[in-house]
Amino acid sequence: MTLQAQTEVAAELVNVRRVYQMGGTEVAALDGITHQFGRGEYWSIMGSSGSGKSTLLNILGCIDRPTEGEYLVGGSPVSTLNDDQLSELRGARLGFVFQSYNLIPQLDVLENILVPVMYRDEWPPWALDRAKELAERVGLGGRTGHRPPELSGGQQQRVAIARALINDPDLILADEATGNLDTKTAEEILEVFDELHAEGKTILLVTHERSIGLRAEFTLKLVDGRTEEVVENRSS
Ligand SMILES: Nc1ncnc2c1ncn2[C@@H]1O[C@H](COP(=O)(O)OP(=O)(O)O)[C@@H](O)[C@H]1O
Ligand SMILES: [Mg+2]
Repeated sequence: MTLQAQTEVAAELVNVRRVYQMGGTEVAALDGITHQFGRGEYWSIMGSSGSGKSTLLNILGCIDRPTEGEYLVGGSPVSTLNDDQLSELRGARLGFVFQSYNLIPQLDVLENILVPVMYRDEWPPWALDRAKELAERVGLGGRTGHRPPELSGGQQQRVAIARALINDPDLILADEATGNLDTKTAEEILEVFDELHAEGKTILLVTHERSIGLRAEFTLKLVDGRTEEVVENRSS
């Protein structure tokens, strides 16, 4: 990794709070997080259930906004973007992988991979070829015409990863992406993340499983919506 890649910031949180109103009381799901994720880095975000992991990932993925503080992607403060600019940012620069795959059951593998492209104003000429390449890459080249109900959980998650990659995003966000999978299938999915990291993608992976969290270069550990510690998992 070059020095520049290490110092360049992909995503930055400055004193981010996210408060939910529950009846008359406030719940601070995130309570003042300041953190920088460097470009090309592989991070796990860990913590017990309710520690704020999903809330944090949703803010990082621009699905949710902070109540206080600032979130910057590639140096731009997200609070200054309007809804159109936000959807563009989400579609073009961020790739999301969820625990529950979130595929559209009526669409086949290739069409599901192409969903993020459908939000563009114009259909890019490369889209279909790239979707086919990505299907190959995640080992589903022979199943592009299948629909999600005809696929195993691991295969569905591979479709979701290919979908997350279709716009060649800078930042890949995964929330308990292997949570519904058996150990062997989970390992195959984690190998895809290892490869993406080796290709230079920035990966932010939420997990409550230590063995999974340790695969990342760095871990951000949350307790009650605050940073408990930041750990470097292995020297490179
Ligand atoms: N939509 C919501 N409304 C109210 N409280 C919420 C909501 N989403 C999350 N919370 C609360 O915020 C805290 C953090 O939740 P979450 O980010 O889902 O944690 P994790 O993903 O680590 O399990 C929890 O106390 C949870 O109950
Ligand atoms: Mg969660």
